[in-house]
Amino acid sequence: MKLLIKSGRVIDPSQNLDAILDVLIEDGVIKDIQGNIEAADAQKIDAQGKIVCPGLIDVHVHLREPGFEYKETIETGLRAAVAGGFTAVCCMANTNPVNDNQEVTRYLLKRAEEVGLARLYPIGAVSKGLKGEELAPIGELKEAGVVALSDDGQPIYDSGFLRRALEYAKYFGLPIISHAEDKKMARDGVMNEGRMSTLLGLPGIPAVAEEIMVFRDIKIAALTGGHIHIAHVSTAGSVELIREAKKKGIRITAETCPHYFSLTEEAVRDFNTNAKVSPPLRTDADIQAIKQGLKDGTIDLIATDHAPHHPLEKETTFEDAPSGLIGLETSLPISLKLVEEGVLTWPELIDKMSCKPAQIFGLKGGSLKPGTVADVTIIDPELTYQIDANSFFSKARNCPFNGWKVKGRAVITILGGEIVYQHGEIKPRTI
Ligand code: DOR
Repeated sequence: MKLLIKSGRVIDPSQNLDAILDVLIEDGVIKDIQGNIEAADAQKIDAQGKIVCPGLIDVHVHLREPGFEYKETIETGLRAAVAGGFTAVCCMANTNPVNDNQEVTRYLLKRAEEVGLARLYPIGAVSKGLKGEELAPIGELKEAGVVALSDDGQPIYDSGFLRRALEYAKYFGLPIISHAEDKKMARDGVMNEGRMSTLLGLPGIPAVAEEIMVFRDIKIAALTGGHIHIAHVSTAGSVELIREAKKKGIRITAETCPHYFSLTEEAVRDFNTNAKVSPPLRTDADIQAIKQGLKDGTIDLIATDHAPHHPLEKETTFEDAPSGLIGLETSLPISLKLVEEGVLTWPELIDKMSCKPAQIFGLKGGSLKPGTVADVTIIDPELTYQIDANSFFSKARNCPFNGWKVKGRAVITILGGEIVYQHGEIKPRTI
């Protein structure tokens, strides 16, 4: 089967490419990228005025299956993914049962294969049951297919345990993704500690609750030579710590999420539980530092931390509502604001949403080099629309961007050379 994408602006930072070109896909791989390709027998896509880039990759999602299928399933999560332009996602281990054994990892991979819409890369737990006490069987998890380890949702408190985990993870060539939060410092906090928490009378979580753990993680990464990846960076202090660690050559990478560069603690002013997230939304100064960190490469990539919850769970008091917000169907337009504001160029954004995730976690895709799997996203950069959470493919509705007017949308998502999403419709795969 052949697919010919004609006359799009092809942006592929993995090969320093940004030009109007044709892309020929054959038998699921990129066959050729040239100025003017002829292929009479190929299905053609007119991409004039569109961006053609390697499929977007989100290394931090919660798909909730197994165990919490009332919030999201692998099928609804992957439908949301392709609708948002993502061809691959990495799913966190805080399911029930936890992904701390080969059976769960294999189940996730099998379900994703059956759904067939996007690549699913499981993340294994660092500790059994996410309890931070006993190491998960790291070698077995790797053998079953995990691409990283994380107790996300929970910090790893025991520094000696993290040291040992990083040593094992290093041996197996896996990064550990750190949920950097000192919960003893955060105590019963539910939002950022500052002016707004005082105004609202809600208990706050200070920025240092994150920074203490980032600092500790950096020290242990330096000690072990293991690769630590800091999840959902939310504070200026964390950005600075990571920047300094990188200068010293410590093996650290980092992600932030669209809500940490587009929303401040103001978003919870009306006790909007859809803006309750861990770590919490911070201040304008933090946003500025995060943008700077994205620009100078301190923050390697953008992930969503897509955290679906049932609408009824969020329909309660701010203190009782679970933390988390969804992002798969809004990540691209919200991140594109960085391009509109001149913080990042288009290629820099694609790099952080596709190439870097693939490179750092050793995933397929993230490139349009001939011979690479044909995972491709076609974006209409001019399409303006209003975000409507009720129209999402995700089961969940906990989206703080609902009603926002945005510009830029994935219009076609191609997985392994097959169109899996086109103009609002999920396309069942033919093979
Ligand atoms: O807000 C969050 N929700 N942060 C996390 O780290 C976990 C996530 C969840 O699983 O709901």
